[in-house]
Amino acid sequence: MTVIHARPAPAPAGPAGPPRHLLRLRPDVLVAPDGDDVELTHPWGRQRVHSLGPATVARLLRLAGQDTDAGTLTADPDGVRLLRLLERFPYLVTSVLAGPDGVPLATAVPIARSATLPAGAPGGGPAHRPVVLSRFAYLRRLPDPGADACVIESPLAAYRVTLHQPAVSAFVAALTSPRAPARAAAAAGLPAQVGEALAGLLSATGFLERAAGEDGAEPKLWDFHDLLFHSRSRAGRHDYPSGGVFAHQDHPQLPAVPGASPREEGPGIDLPVPDWSRVVAGDPGFTEVLEGRRSVRGYGDRPVTVGQLGELLYRAARVRQVITGDPQSPTSYDIVDRPYPAGGSTGELELYLSVVDCEGLEPGVYRYDAAAHRLKPRRWSCAADEAAFRELLTAAWRATNRTVEPQVLLTVTSRFGRLSWKYSQIAYALTLKHVGVLYQTLYLVATAMGLGPCGLGSGDTDAAARALGLEWTEETSVGEFLIGSLPQGPAPAPRGFRDVVARSREDMG
Ligand SMILES: Cc1cc2nc3c(=O)[nH]c(=O)nc-3n(C[C@H](O)[C@H](O)[C@H](O)COP(=O)(O)O)c2cc1C
Repeated sequence: MTVIHARPAPAPAGPAGPPRHLLRLRPDVLVAPDGDDVELTHPWGRQRVHSLGPATVARLLRLAGQDTDAGTLTADPDGVRLLRLLERFPYLVTSVLAGPDGVPLATAVPIARSATLPAGAPGGGPAHRPVVLSRFAYLRRLPDPGADACVIESPLAAYRVTLHQPAVSAFVAALTSPRAPARAAAAAGLPAQVGEALAGLLSATGFLERAAGEDGAEPKLWDFHDLLFHSRSRAGRHDYPSGGVFAHQDHPQLPAVPGASPREEGPGIDLPVPDWSRVVAGDPGFTEVLEGRRSVRGYGDRPVTVGQLGELLYRAARVRQVITGDPQSPTSYDIVDRPYPAGGSTGELELYLSVVDCEGLEPGVYRYDAAAHRLKPRRWSCAADEAAFRELLTAAWRATNRTVEPQVLLTVTSRFGRLSWKYSQIAYALTLKHVGVLYQTLYLVATAMGLGPCGLGSGDTDAAARALGLEWTEETSVGEFLIGSLPQGPAPAPRGFRDVVARSREDMG
């Protein structure tokens, strides 16, 4: 039997009285006065503001370092002029909601240029009608040293709100069900007035669900993680350091070419190096390959051979050269040159082969040593690893709508740290882009060679880690690709330039 203890509502915390609304500039806004003008330098650019007058300039300078009660700004003309200025630049102004004693409850920091919170009013939100948290909102602890507060973020919000007190986090948690702010405040042990002001702040900053048709309504067709990944891996909707910022210089960059694993014994199997003259003379023309490429989901009776696999891997994915970085430079690293392009030439993608039916290769798992152009058999350490190998192949069969009995499954893995050592925010997006580049390269080379390629869009991270012998947070599967022999009969001819252009032009008149 489940016993539920009914708890009396805790007494509302904090001194009585209306909460205060304090304003301050983002800490990274530089205010450079020049007579009656000021120049504002901030993460989104630089602006010159003319003819503010010395008193307003002085108050603006004060706002860079200390909080100002928003209410006091309407009391005199200089204050009003400052308020108008802040309303022109809402993305530079942090809004603090504080108790009557000035102790902060929540701080809204603009993180995007689209931030529009009116400087004068974090409130104005729904006071008595029930409100509910957006399904895109999430709480977390920032990793920065000393950041012991909880923040609420959302890919839909142009603000990050710091929740300074556990009771405020409890208030947010109470809004996971539709509740009037006063009721959520009571559940969190906060005064009703504070609840109403917090709801107003959360509403104005984009953390409460908005009805369909309202500005900022929930985009129905996005999953939480997709929208978050999208908004954080491109610029414009966050203020985190992004791009090649080398945030992990305290950690050595991973080697350009990975070493052997304890699961690998012996030198491995040297793959034949294709003969340049034969390949160049025998390949179909580029356009024939591009237009003749298709996904193949049925194989010939004779399986693909180890020689063909060797040629495919060499032409699509080998390491052409490693260009040594400058050991004196903290941001230099060894560049990996491969047949396909990759941002930063980090060479983080690796290939593993799960072989079921291949002439010249025993069934099992192999790592492609792309620098030595060699296959390294990976022994399973227990029956569960072998079972994971079958799980991988079953997942591939399922991904093809149960149509393909794989001959060879290529698993693309990412040594993610190679990328994240250099790139922040965009590293995972970049590795997925590289997967796409590698897929197309495999497709084109396989087509030119008369093999059957098929990219897959899903795979099992844990099964791959077990089958291939990987620690998934260090090197994880990010792509799957099937390769087999073409079915007997004449090779499919390129379809030529038959396409919809002519018809769609006719349809459009
Ligand atoms: C990233 C990506 C993921 C794919 N995922 C699958 C998949 O999971 N299963 C499958 O049978 N085909 C998959 N395909 C193949 C597509 O279905 C195929 O490219 C599409 O139907 C167009 O046909 P075509 O490749 O013959 O031109 C994928 C292709 C790509 C590029």
